[in-house]
Amino acid sequence: MDNKVQKLQEKLAAAKLGGGQTRIDAQHKKGKLTARERIHFLLDEGSFEEIGALVTHRSKDFGMAEQIVLGDGVVTGYGTIGGRLVYVFAQDFTVFGGSLSETHAEKICKIMDLAVQNGAPLIGLNDSGGARIQEGVNSLGGYADIFYRNVQSSGVIPQISAIMGPCAGGAVYSPAMTDFIIMVENSSYMFVTGPNVVKTVTNETVTSEELGGASTHASKSGVTHLVAANDVDCVDKIKRLLSYLPQNCEDKVPNLPYTLKDEYRPELDSIVPENANQPYDMKAVIGGIVDPDSFYEIHESYAENIVVGFARLAGRSIGIVANQPMSLAGVLDVNSSKKGARFVRFCDCFNIPLLVLEDVPGFLPGTDQEWNAIITNGSKLLYAFSEATVPRVTVITRKAYGGAYDVMNSKHIGADMNFAWPTAEIAVMGAKGASEIIFKKEIEAAENPAEKLAEKEREYAETFANPYRAAARGFIDEVILPNETRRKLIKAFAMLEHKAVKGPKRKHGNIPL
Ligand code: HXC
Repeated sequence: MDNKVQKLQEKLAAAKLGGGQTRIDAQHKKGKLTARERIHFLLDEGSFEEIGALVTHRSKDFGMAEQIVLGDGVVTGYGTIGGRLVYVFAQDFTVFGGSLSETHAEKICKIMDLAVQNGAPLIGLNDSGGARIQEGVNSLGGYADIFYRNVQSSGVIPQISAIMGPCAGGAVYSPAMTDFIIMVENSSYMFVTGPNVVKTVTNETVTSEELGGASTHASKSGVTHLVAANDVDCVDKIKRLLSYLPQNCEDKVPNLPYTLKDEYRPELDSIVPENANQPYDMKAVIGGIVDPDSFYEIHESYAENIVVGFARLAGRSIGIVANQPMSLAGVLDVNSSKKGARFVRFCDCFNIPLLVLEDVPGFLPGTDQEWNAIITNGSKLLYAFSEATVPRVTVITRKAYGGAYDVMNSKHIGADMNFAWPTAEIAVMGAKGASEIIFKKEIEAAENPAEKLAEKEREYAETFANPYRAAARGFIDEVILPNETRRKLIKAFAMLEHKAVKGPKRKHGNIPL
């Protein structure tokens, strides 16, 4: 028996060492943790249970029969975060560069299946050179098995991908189909093909960082939702993100204990400037509405004209979509529409109520926008709001112009409660533009056209640049003071807590992709 125990202990010790001490040292030298260290920092102490530590690959080509590493380059299992069950896989770059073999893929698929069947989030810590080149189509098949499961799990359990090293080829497509990507600054890259192939094919010279580093994907492509300073910060960000999410699509959102106080916020009264063309920071409005320090912004550096993120309102998770007057006057364009739509759909998948804060002058005009399909992309946001069945509340703080009024969670597309501040302006367009069109002849014929325009502008503004026409029609449920917004929202979301809406019978809708 002693021999048998020793044999097991030796095997487990070998599995723990992955690709060996030299490669572990090299990983540390790059400022990276090993797969096991990452899991250690991610999960509640002592909660990790490993599955498949003794799995080995079956490959024989290119001398692979002699290169067997227990675990085959990925650590898989389950544990808890804040006492809640999660499933996790962490690729081990010290073993064939974390590359994905047939058996490596089977290990990941096994825990993906368990995660879906048991209704708990899946967390992937990716650090991989893509398909294991020595295995050819077997590893391609392994990727496809994972992709298929990513899609089957989508909307059933939250899927979170951390990118913690150079991820190339197939290693980027699985994360792309999960709900959130978090990249580590300076040590992670994501690209379909690296700089060498780019040089050969397009003759472009580009560094890995420029092509697919964290800041590129955070600001230019929007591929990553969050950026972490290092590996420990990355797992901390995963934990914070999970704290807002339910375990699965049938679970309720986390609801921390909260005792109602007076909930008035006088600081909200002075945020919107007198001059309607002056910007202000919508994040100050968010800060005045949600529980202190609870706002967790997603996609912070991408399409900054729309702000999205999670927060708590009286302890309960909500998702926020807000126009940002500080960036491009809060206009809707291709990127902000896509960003908003994706966030709305995520919240709707997982029963997270939506709060919309609206100050939008309309859609951005121009050839750049039209040629990049603002029509199709703008409709994504319209579609996403229209199909969402979670509780939906809107507060119009200032401008709600044109099609953007309809799109930004208007009553007409299914919002439950629509509030407006007295500063709200709800109209087809701004007073100046409107007057120039409908009073064109009158202005041209006037003795002093500028004076006439100003007079007509005042007339139009008095008629439409306020919330009262919309309130008279019931498109706005209530005009409220900024200082009572938090109190009103807490009550509205509590009132909507048991909202149940059944859509028409169909296979699935056809969002304009
Ligand atoms: C097998 C691999 C590997 C791979 C790396 N290694 N990638 N082994 N298959 N895909 C091994 C290396 O041989 C090396 O082994 C160790 O991992 C570390 O790699 P290095 O190159 O020394 O590290 P580094 O300089 O940090 O560069 C990392 C890297 C680079 C950027 C990931 O290795 C690389 O470019 N790899 C290939 C990427 C790629 O083209 N993958 C295939 C994509 S096709 P030793 O023994 O020396 O330690 C694909 C198809 C799927 O994924 C498509 C689905 C849609």
